[in-house]
Amino acid sequence: MNILVTGSRGQLGSELLELSASCRNHRFFFYDLPDLDITRSDQVESHCRNHEIEVIVNCAAYTAVDKAETDSAMAFKVNRDAPAILAACARERNALLLQISTDYVFDGTSSTPYRESDPTAPLGVYGLSKWEGEERIRQIAPAYIIIRTSWLYSLSGVNFVKTMLRLGAERPELHVVADQIGSPTWAADLAAAIVLIIDRYKKDLPYGATFHYSNEGVASWYDFARAVMDLAGVSCKVLPIESAHYPQIAPRPHYSVLNKSAIKKELGIEIPYWRDSLSAMLQRRGMSDV
Ligand SMILES: NC(=O)c1ccc[n+]([C@@H]2O[C@H](COP(=O)([O-])OP(=O)(O)OC[C@H]3O[C@@H](n4cnc5c(N)ncnc54)[C@H](OP(=O)(O)O)[C@@H]3O)[C@@H](O)[C@H]2O)c1
Repeated sequence: MNILVTGSRGQLGSELLELSASCRNHRFFFYDLPDLDITRSDQVESHCRNHEIEVIVNCAAYTAVDKAETDSAMAFKVNRDAPAILAACARERNALLLQISTDYVFDGTSSTPYRESDPTAPLGVYGLSKWEGEERIRQIAPAYIIIRTSWLYSLSGVNFVKTMLRLGAERPELHVVADQIGSPTWAADLAAAIVLIIDRYKKDLPYGATFHYSNEGVASWYDFARAVMDLAGVSCKVLPIESAHYPQIAPRPHYSVLNKSAIKKELGIEIPYWRDSLSAMLQRRGMSDV
């Protein structure tokens, strides 16, 4: 299978790049800005045509959640309009479009894990732009899989784990929000799930479906920060605070745990527990000096 990965320098794209070395049955083509701007239909079409692409994995996104509130035109261009371009290209080529979306499509008022069919109600521009991107794909692409994930981290890019490690080395104590609950997800695990899904394309994969994928288990940002310090052996003390004492520009859902029954049952994907994955990521970091 010839696979195009967009946004390849991001967290998820980088993990797919790493994994692709051991996927001999597929040919991966990795692109990011400026060589492939997903808002440019001419670039999308020519890359798909030149590489005879059969699967597009869209890892490109506008992910600056707070900045999106004041830069909404760009957030919608990348997260809503560009997926429509990718969907049209996939339709033209009879290709599969695999889109990554977010837990931020929900408002966080639930007290049980969100199912794929639960009503969405994004609280901010980022979540709304991602939701509208999902909808464009459902309207245009005959073959698509949308995977909503949450709290991604990896060795590459800026993320919560790396920020905690940096601050933990600089400060004796840190205050971290304890009233936002979700599931941390190692991008390497999601990348592995994506490869398993691609392996099933043209065999028994549904041609239009939305799935939830995050690591197993539930944590607050405070729990997550404590686990980072514990597992990395950093002595910084972590203290819980309420969101009200840590104002952010964009509102965040207080609860964004995703129900993963569908991806486990329908696709047989096994999902690691978040703390085990965090430990694996930190071990890999130790070996790579990042
Ligand atoms: N990060 C999270 O916590 C999280 C949580 C839930 C869902 N998600 C979703 O998961 C997916 C992967 O997230 P991630 O954390 O890997 O994102 P990321 O690290 O921010 O990577 C996104 C990549 O897309 C690139 N990009 C931006 N605009 C582009 C354009 N017009 N054309 C082509 N590439 C473009 C970015 O380049 P620049 O850096 O140069 O802008 C970056 O390399 C996204 O769909 C995101 O919405 C993320």
